Amino acid sequence: MTPPRNSNAARDIAYALHPYTDHKAHLQNGPLVISRGKGVRVFDEQGKEYIESVAGLWCASLGFDNERLVQAAADQMRKLPFYHAFTAKSHEPLIDLSEMLIERAPSPMSKVFFANSGSEANDSAIKMIWYMNNAIGRPEKKKIIARLKGYHGITLAAASLTGLPANHKLFDLPLSGFHHISTPHHYHNAQPGESEEDFATRLAEELEQKILAEGPETVAAFWAEPIMGAGGVILPPAGYFPKIQAVLKKYDVLFVADEVICGFWRTGSYWGSQTLGIQPDILVCAKALSASYLPISAVMVSEQVFQGIAEGSSSVGTWGHGFTYSGHPVPAAVAIETLKIYDEMDIGGHVKRVGAHMQAQLRARFADHPLVGEVRGTGLIGAIELVADKATKTNFDPGQKVGGRLTKLGEENGVILRAMTNDSIGFSPPLIITEEEVDEMLNRVAKSLDEVMVQVRRESIAAV
Ligand SMILES: Cc1ncc(COP(=O)(O)O)c(C=O)c1O
Repeated sequence: MTPPRNSNAARDIAYALHPYTDHKAHLQNGPLVISRGKGVRVFDEQGKEYIESVAGLWCASLGFDNERLVQAAADQMRKLPFYHAFTAKSHEPLIDLSEMLIERAPSPMSKVFFANSGSEANDSAIKMIWYMNNAIGRPEKKKIIARLKGYHGITLAAASLTGLPANHKLFDLPLSGFHHISTPHHYHNAQPGESEEDFATRLAEELEQKILAEGPETVAAFWAEPIMGAGGVILPPAGYFPKIQAVLKKYDVLFVADEVICGFWRTGSYWGSQTLGIQPDILVCAKALSASYLPISAVMVSEQVFQGIAEGSSSVGTWGHGFTYSGHPVPAAVAIETLKIYDEMDIGGHVKRVGAHMQAQLRARFADHPLVGEVRGTGLIGAIELVADKATKTNFDPGQKVGGRLTKLGEENGVILRAMTNDSIGFSPPLIITEEEVDEMLNRVAKSLDEVMVQVRRESIAAV
């Protein structure tokens, strides 16, 4: 349907180039224009209401109308709307936020560097590691190992860490020196009868073999999300990270935890690293750091990494890295207020309670559904994976776009959903969601899933 001339939709089609969109399809279908938000809900320009089951992009942790964050931004804009951190300049929001993050880190951290996005933070961390290894006299130690289906962003180096085909195809990526090992997904990748522990042991052995094959003196770092988000909300098997970390220690390989989704209570602990038993050398965070009201990301580094960077900067005369907006005072002020709100409202206690309810409800409603192969998650992050054949764990043909159909029907039924690879539907609502709102959200999902069921039965594309 062609949107009316000069409507928002028509102008969007005419002028906007959207991230993660099939542009030819968009010319036909146009956008969903969201105009305002309240609590866990957003409203389109016609006033239709939707529950945001993924908090936008796993990020609007305090919902869509937090006045304290608005006030924090306004106050900071009046006081000091911009200042930078180059050449040893500083300002209070940057200093306060740095201190707050170091105090909250899951393992001993020394310094914080700020960027604007998760991708920039990951790129910065890669550059820090390369720089450090050059500075301390091991220039060959540069390779990075990440995981298939991991998501770390889209700038050149971050996209090279990412292990998803859509981020590599036609982009001439990954860059050389970036390697990917297996996805730690027991449901699909374990051998018949293999326990979670045994699967975890096998994955740690795979990592060790990879390091040995490349040469330990050439491998600098391992990158992982505690729980893979965009790859489909994949929780590792029991014991996975401690086994992985033991291998890394043996070969002096740094562990970089990408906490861009998992950080700030999403998994039921302050950091996903705590939920999953990781002691990172470098921690990358963003999104819920500022409840996403303004863009800001951070890289925390251990004393060892800092010393390497310091060494290099002193020999070169400067550390030639930093963004105009690194530690921008307005997003930094919003992030400070966000962290205070988390503490004051005991958002951790809330996530533990409501997360347990969401997990129980996801399982109660969907585990036995004929189209659902696996229900997974912890805290306020979860997923249901749709399958064509539950007995054989066979996914639908991607061309059938079954996850996309659920998303579309979800929109009609008042819930914004996120479909990922293998038709996994992710849930990562604002952390402030209540038990009643979880039920309302899942009622809408269940209705949409039953409508998908009618379609796939009619088309005979599932064993149901
Ligand atoms: C784990 C993880 N790392 C990095 C990123 C990239 O962040 P950004 O989109 O802000 O560049 C994302 C984005 O979703 C993410 O989920």
